[in-house]
Amino acid sequence: MSTLIVRNLGKTFRNVSAVNGLDLELRPGEIFVLLGPNGAGKTTTLKMIAGLVHPSEGDIIIKGINLNEHPIAAKAHIGYVPDEPFIYNKLTGREFINFIAGIYRIEKDHFEERMAAYFKRLGIGEWIDEFSEKYSHGMKQKVIMCQLFLHNPDLILIDEPLVGLDPKTSKTVREIFFELRDQGKTLFICTHTLSFAREIASRLGIISEGVLKFTGDLDALSTISGSRDIEEIYLKLTEESTTADR
Ligand SMILES: Nc1ncnc2c1ncn2[C@@H]1O[C@H](COP(=O)(O)OP(=O)(O)OP(=O)(O)O)[C@@H](O)[C@H]1O
Ligand SMILES: [Mg+2]
Repeated sequence: MSTLIVRNLGKTFRNVSAVNGLDLELRPGEIFVLLGPNGAGKTTTLKMIAGLVHPSEGDIIIKGINLNEHPIAAKAHIGYVPDEPFIYNKLTGREFINFIAGIYRIEKDHFEERMAAYFKRLGIGEWIDEFSEKYSHGMKQKVIMCQLFLHNPDLILIDEPLVGLDPKTSKTVREIFFELRDQGKTLFICTHTLSFAREIASRLGIISEGVLKFTGDLDALSTISGSRDIEEIYLKLTEESTTADR
């Protein structure tokens, strides 16, 4: 069964068409990476799938469940890491994680040990018991990423995972993403880091001005663009799509 099916998804903010006619199907064990210029509609797309922005049109089906009709059941399968990590200032990282676990009704015995291992791997260390107001951007991002290991979601949505992360943590995050993929999870990642996209994507999408112009693996996009270099592929395909519209 597909983890995610998106049909004719659209979002209009007043008179701005942020996302338009987007169709997509993602399977278990797939890492889909969405690329596109600033303002192309990546975050809006992720937020709609996460159930945080209501679509103007279209359907989102998560593991066979229509998000609009059964939001709670559908969202139980989703893990979402936003591009601007937010934790209440007066909570420590650990309190934040416990709070989220409470929302998902997960017993402490079922996550404490597992979480401790991820805190260690991500280099959170003793920061976990500090108030989050003292956290750097990267530290917040890491703690928020740990939510993904609480309720074991099948569909993982991550907006700009590398922003603020140091090189060592970026490498760990990449390893964790591959582990999740190998467990049969589906990852949907938006990024501007092309080298990262090239390394992790099983399939890439290019969105421009709200329209998903191309999807395919690196070979397919190389063939379309006539280049093997990810930067050239990106520039050619985003360029072509904007000039073709005019
Ligand atoms: N809450 C909002 N109200 C009005 N317009 C919005 C809102 N959120 C997004 N937009 C508009 O929708 C369009 C798509 O924005 P979005 O944040 O999805 O782009 P993005 O591809 O994530 O860009 P970036 O690479 O800069 O993160 C932009 O024109 C943006 O101004
Ligand atoms: Mg964005």
